[in-house]
Parts: sequence; structure tokens; C-alpha cells
Amino acid sequence: MNAIEVENLSKFYGPARGIENVSFSVKKGEIMGFLGPNGSGKTTTMRILTCFFPPTSGTARVCGSDILKDSFSVREKIGYLPENVPLYIDMPVFSYLNFFAEIKGVPSRLKKKKVDEVIQRCELQSVSHRLIRKLSKGFKQRVGIAQALLNDPEVLILDEPTVGLDPKQIIDIRSLIKGLGGSQTVILSTHILPEVSMTCDRVIIMHQGKLVAVDTPSNLTKKLQQAPKIRLKAEGPASDIIKTLSQLSGITAIDRKEPGSEKNGFYEIEIKQNADVINEIAKSVYENNWKLKEIKPVDMTLEEIFIKVVTEEEGDNNT
Ligand SMILES: Nc1ncnc2c1ncn2[C@@H]1O[C@H](COP(=O)(O)OP(=O)(O)OP(=O)(O)O)[C@@H](O)[C@H]1O
Ligand SMILES: [Mg+2]
Repeated sequence: MNAIEVENLSKFYGPARGIENVSFSVKKGEIMGFLGPNGSGKTTTMRILTCFFPPTSGTARVCGSDILKDSFSVREKIGYLPENVPLYIDMPVFSYLNFFAEIKGVPSRLKKKKVDEVIQRCELQSVSHRLIRKLSKGFKQRVGIAQALLNDPEVLILDEPTVGLDPKQIIDIRSLIKGLGGSQTVILSTHILPEVSMTCDRVIIMHQGKLVAVDTPSNLTKKLQQAPKIRLKAEGPASDIIKTLSQLSGITAIDRKEPGSEKNGFYEIEIKQNADVINEIAKSVYENNWKLKEIKPVDMTLEEIFIKVVTEEEGDNNT
């Protein structure tokens, strides 16, 4: 079952395009990543889904409820961490969460239980009586996520949950988010590519207000990897190695890379799609008495894919 269904959403801010014709769905329990450069429309899409403002056209359903016809029930089903978390900084964490439990209509008999629960889940025990103002950025972010979780939302929408955090806090927040998947449906936005492969089941790539790709991180890697590469480390005269290997059929280019020092050098070999040349390369290295140190196919990184998708789109737009 789909927790979120988005159909042809467009949002214009006057003449300025926020997003245009965006359609996608998110399965129940799935963690979906929104990836895109600044201004690509991630926040706009999230604000429409949380009923912060209506779309210019198109619609969306959250757990079966329409964002236009039934916004009240959509709001009930969603927990939202906005881009800039508005926290009442002069309140202690515990009182803040109690206050929000009340605003969110958590029944009073359940209030203490719910607040304790989100404090546990977001590991806020050690700071629950401290003023929010005195917390580090990472802990403030956790308070924001705890607030979003208070009403046991079926869907969590997190706008850049790890922005501005230190590496340790990033790891903690990621594992917190990963732990939410399965029981809750999560949409999160990020600029950080590794974050998507580490945390998300699927990823939507947005660019200039449009959805340009949606798939699992590993399928995106496979699909867009048009020119597969092989990395070879071998000891021998570089010019001989390049000359010999470039004569093998299936090899389209060979390039020597020397990051740092010659000793760390390797060859990057571009091959034709589906060419099975690893054996041929190894054989050639062996027959020429060069010393084989390493040979392996290289996957395109998500970063390379992202750049490829985005630049191809820009190319299309210019034609
Ligand atoms: N209130 C607004 N008024 C006018 N234009 C806006 C407004 N909010 C967003 N936009 C425009 O809509 C487009 C999408 O912006 P949005 O904030 O959704 O992008 P984003 O992907 O969240 O970017 P970022 O990564 O910087 O947070 C941008 O071109 C932006 O300038
Ligand atoms: Mg944004």
C-alpha cells in the first residue's frame, strides 16, 4: 500500500516556479530520500504535503487522505521537521515536548507516556531538563524530531535533518532515522549523497523544480552506469601497459592516475557495455611479466550519477 501518492503537483510563487508536474509514490514503511541542489523544490514539495500551503495544481494523498479536501486528517497523520526548526529556546526540553503534546491533541492520560517515549527514542534523557537554548545543534535537531514523533505519525517528513551537524551527530541522527523505517514512512531531504545510500530505500532526484529520477540507490547506479570502468594496479612500464592493453578488444580508453605519488598509481580502464575483459587484462599483465596488484570493476558513485542526471537535464533544457 502507498502511504503517499503525489499526482502532477505544481507550485508557482507568482511567476516563479517552485515545482512543476511532480508525481511519485512512497510505500508504507519506506524511507524515501529527496536529493537535489539548492532551489530544486524539495522544501516546496514537503510544504505541500504537510498542508503548509496548497499546490497551484495537482494533488496528493497522505495515507488515503487528500491534502486539499481533507487537510485536517493529513495534518494528524504527519510529523514534520521543517528546514529551520522553530524551537521555543527558553523552555526545558521536557516542558517543550509536554506543551507540544498538548497542542497536538495527545490525550492527557497518554501525555506522559508519549513524551517519555519520544525522549527515549531520540535519546534525550540526559538533557530532558536543560533549556533548549543551551543544547548543541545536534540535540536541538533531536528535540525537533522528538516533537515530530509525538503524535505517533504514520508519515514523517524531515527537511534536511542532518544539516549543520558534526560527523558523530550525523551518524546518530541517521541511525535514529533508519530505526524509524518499517514502522513509519519517512521522507527526508538532503544534499549529502552518501546519506541517501546509507539511509534511504529509494531516492528521488529533483532538479529545477522537476523530478528527474526515482529509484533505489543501487538501481540508479546500475541504470546510469553506461561506461563501466575497471581499476587496475600493476607494476611495469606504464607506456608498455597502456599500449598493450589499449589493443585489447572491448577496451575504449585507458588512463593512468597517480593520486599522491606514483606508488599509489593505478589505471582506469573504460570498457564497452557488457564487455567481459577482466580475464583478458589479467592474462595480458601476466604474460608480460608485470606484477598484478589489483583488478576490479568500479561502480559509479552516487555523486557521479547525480551530476550526470543533472547535467543531462540541463543539456535537454538547452536544446
Ligand atoms: N516563498 C517563496 N517565494 C518565491 N519563490 C520561492 C519561495 N520559496 C521557494 N521559492 C522558489 O522555489 C524554488 C524551489 O525552492 P525550494 O525551497 O523548494 O528548494 P529546495 O530544494 O528546498 O532548496 P534548498 O536545498 O536550498 O533547501 C526555488 O527556485 C525558490 O527560489
Ligand atoms: Mg529546502
